[in-house]
Amino acid sequence: MNQSEPSSNKPQRILSGMRPTGRLHLGHYKGVLENWLKLQNSEQCFFFAADWHALTTDYANPEVVKNTIWDMLIDWLAVGIDPEKSTLFIQSEVPEHAELHLLFSFMTPLSWLERVPTYKDQIEQLREKDLGTYGFLGYPLLQSADILMYRADAVPIGEDQVPHIELTREVARRFNHLYRKGIPPLFPEPKSLLMPTSKLPGLDGRKMSKSYGNTIELSESWKTTEKKVKQMLTDPARKLRTDAGTPEKCPVWDFHTVYSTEEERAWVQEGCTTAGIGCVDCKGCLLKHLEEELQPIRERRADIASRPDDVRDIVKAGNEKARREASRTMEKVRKSLKMGYRV
Ligand code: TRP
Ligand code: SF4
Repeated sequence: MNQSEPSSNKPQRILSGMRPTGRLHLGHYKGVLENWLKLQNSEQCFFFAADWHALTTDYANPEVVKNTIWDMLIDWLAVGIDPEKSTLFIQSEVPEHAELHLLFSFMTPLSWLERVPTYKDQIEQLREKDLGTYGFLGYPLLQSADILMYRADAVPIGEDQVPHIELTREVARRFNHLYRKGIPPLFPEPKSLLMPTSKLPGLDGRKMSKSYGNTIELSESWKTTEKKVKQMLTDPARKLRTDAGTPEKCPVWDFHTVYSTEEERAWVQEGCTTAGIGCVDCKGCLLKHLEEELQPIRERRADIASRPDDVRDIVKAGNEKARREASRTMEKVRKSLKMGYRV
């Protein structure tokens, strides 16, 4: 119901964040970054590195953030997130997020947070991390603060994040109801821009994820990618070159559905099912597409990574811009909360 494409001609305010957890891979590119790239051409975008969010689960290993945040930001720039079009920033550089989170925490019923479906799931799944903390319960509310701070119209997210946007809408409504009686609401209720789930699996056919060791990293060398693709397991029925196979039983085929033209896919279907082509030929076609997509990104990445001062300047300017926007919102929030007694 609240999912829609940005429609009107007036650019919408878009905000999204990503936790710094490691170098980005093709799954991030196809599933998230390609959507961001599209949005930045027509909308007003804010993209941030959610370092505080990473600490909600990795509080015991803060070096994870330190070791990954700049790699992630460089990956964003390498794929074409353009600081002329989008504002890139680091969450903790805009401490207003923490203030808004705190003020929201006073008016948010505990039950709203306890019923977020990921809450109990994650505690179970990440048992080794002890997530029975105050901050972990409150983290969707921190996300609400991230979003409402910029009074975003829409938030591009994956399916798992939909309940967080629902919560954000409730928080906006509650704030407007409590503190904006008889005056225009302060916070718009943001829409979820549900990003289509990427059809690209990992190299082994499962979801592409660092924890499965089945990724193609944006920053790895072409030689590494080539080797990984050549080692990909194919349909086990094709033991010999002369054995026919079924593309649907092969992760290489999933890659073709994302990368190859209709003619190439027909060639794979015909060749695989009749043993007319070998897996080496089939992978060769895929490699050609991967090379076309990845090599320009990698060249840009190498260039950007060789200019760390420029990257810092870009992010610094983004932090400042975000902070200006955030302080504007906080002025209004404090006023709504009758905090005019401050000197
Ligand atoms: N919680 C999101 C995730 O884990 C990251 C995130 C933090 C975010 N704040 C956000 C996404 C605000 C969109 C908007 O992926
Ligand atoms: Fe997979 Fe292609 Fe080999 Fe068929 S020919 S099994 S689709 S790699």
